[in-house]
Amino acid sequence: MKLKNRIVLPAMAREKSIDGRPTKELFSYYENMAKSGFSLIILEHAYVLKSGKASPNQMAIDEDYDKDILSEIAKTIKKYDCKALMQISHAGNKAKIEGDVFGPSAKENVKELSKAEIKTIVDAFAKAARRVKEMGFDGVEVHSAHGYLLNQFYSPLENKREDEYGESLENRLRIHKEIIEAIRKEIGDFQIFLRLGAADYTEGGNTEEDGVKAAKLLESYGIDAIDISGGVLGFLKHPEVEYGYFSSVSKKIKDSVKIPVMMTGGVKNLKQCEDLLNRGVCDLVGVGRQSLKNPAWLLEDMKKE
Ligand SMILES: Cc1cc2nc3c(=O)[nH]c(=O)nc-3n(C[C@H](O)[C@H](O)[C@H](O)COP(=O)(O)O)c2cc1C
Repeated sequence: MKLKNRIVLPAMAREKSIDGRPTKELFSYYENMAKSGFSLIILEHAYVLKSGKASPNQMAIDEDYDKDILSEIAKTIKKYDCKALMQISHAGNKAKIEGDVFGPSAKENVKELSKAEIKTIVDAFAKAARRVKEMGFDGVEVHSAHGYLLNQFYSPLENKREDEYGESLENRLRIHKEIIEAIRKEIGDFQIFLRLGAADYTEGGNTEEDGVKAAKLLESYGIDAIDISGGVLGFLKHPEVEYGYFSSVSKKIKDSVKIPVMMTGGVKNLKQCEDLLNRGVCDLVGVGRQSLKNPAWLLEDMKKE
């Protein structure tokens, strides 16, 4: 995928959907961001199954019903020479739903997923990716960060299974492998990014070394790019650095894989982006909250240069 620059708007939930359907307000948000100079916009997490809904006003991709407005969003973003991906997700044990909540392992108010239920989720990711392709997007980002389902499988803090989905790193990434393969089988050539909560920075959780090994495995499973963020404790939990929160693990991953590496966390201006890129920390920089605060920041900074 050819991009006009290396600055990306990362997935950020706007809570502007009703029953999963994007509103006009959400359309306007993405249209405004498309005019703001980013080379790539990753649409916020959309749930692939109702059992994986993270919040009441989250966007959905579990059925065919949103095609018109989502196609319109994809078309509008692309009008501004910007590529568009959609993040697809299942909240797992963090789902905010009525009824049973499922995760890799049972805990208070959470039931353990059976193998048949895991298969249903894998299929749902593949079907969601097909919808995203049919709507005219350039690709999907599979969400495996910030403590949602795939991150729960990857992290030993949440995954206590003793079957082929637990214990070893390969097993904890088995559902990822199945999802990537299922998407390829369903729609063939299509950009697949994967957002990895690379390390947990917590006793007993994934270390940066686990993150490097995981990235190499995921690359071998066929993803096109890896997007580095934090693990089950979220996108702000990291070793103290002013900007580029996950620089340390991102640099190690970039040195170990051939696919492009994106990293997001605490970046506020173009100088900081250039510094991270020049230091070989990543190939793409995501800028989230600063873009919400001032969507024009990139165009303003580019004018100054
Ligand atoms: C309001 C809000 C919503 C977010 N929603 C998502 C999301 O849907 N998917 C995701 O992977 N990350 C989400 N994030 C995390 C951001 O993509 C990003 O990683 C985080 O804000 C740190 O980067 P920043 O310092 O540039 O904001 C969200 C962050 C914010 C502030």
